[in-house]
Amino acid sequence: MGEIRIRPMTAEDYDSVHALWMTIRGFGIRSIDDSRQDIERFLRRNPSTSVVAEDEDTGRIVGAILCGHDGRQGCFYHVCVEENYRRRRIGTRMAAFCMEALRREKINRVTLIAFTRNDVGNAFWKQIGWTFRGDCNYYDFPLNRENITRFVGTAEADRK
Ligand SMILES: CC(C)(COP(=O)(O)OP(=O)(O)OC[C@H]1O[C@@H](n2cnc3c(N)ncnc32)[C@H](O)[C@@H]1OP(=O)(O)O)[C@@H](O)C(=O)NCCC(=O)NCCS
Repeated sequence: MGEIRIRPMTAEDYDSVHALWMTIRGFGIRSIDDSRQDIERFLRRNPSTSVVAEDEDTGRIVGAILCGHDGRQGCFYHVCVEENYRRRRIGTRMAAFCMEALRREKINRVTLIAFTRNDVGNAFWKQIGWTFRGDCNYYDFPLNRENITRFVGTAEADRK
C-alpha cells in the first residue's frame, strides 16, 4: 500500500471508478446516470469538483466522490473507499478536496443522501462535522423509467 494521492476525477478514470463502485456493497448504480456517457456529461458540467484517491505504488483508484453543483448547492454522490484502504483518512481527505473545490466555485452549501441503515456512512459524516437533518423528508420523482437502479451485492435492505 503506497502513498495516496487525491486528485480531480477525469473522464479517463471512468472504468476504474465504475469497477470500484461495483465492489461497494449496497451502492445503488443507475443504468443511465452511471453510464460512461452520463458520467462524462456530469464531468463536463462539473470539471473540477469530483475526486479520486490513487495508490501511488500501483496507480489503482481506491476511492472516489462524484461531486457537482447546480449554481446554488453542491451535492456528493457515490462516496466510497475500497474496503482494504478504509480508516486511513482517505474519505476525509476526499471530502475536504471536494468542499474546497465547491468553495472556489462560490457554492455555499453541500448536501448528500445517506441511507438510514448505513451505519458506517452516517458515522463518517457526523464525525467529519456534517449536520444530520432530522427535520426534512426527502422526495424524488423518476423522470425516466428506463433509468434502473441496481444495488451492488445485496438485498435492498442493505442499500447505501
Ligand atoms: C464512508 C467511507 C467513505 C469512509 O471512508 P474512510 O476513508 O474509511 O474514512 P476516514 O478514514 O476518513 O474516517 C474518518 C472518521 O469517520 C469515522 N468512521 C469511518 N468509518 C467508520 C466506521 N466503519 N465505523 C465508525 N466510524 C467510522 C471515524 O470516526 C473515522 O475516524 P477514525 O478512523 O480516526 O476513528 C467508507 O467507509 C466507505 O466507502 N463506505 C462504504 C460506502 C459508503 O457507505 N459511503 C457513504 C455513503 S453516504
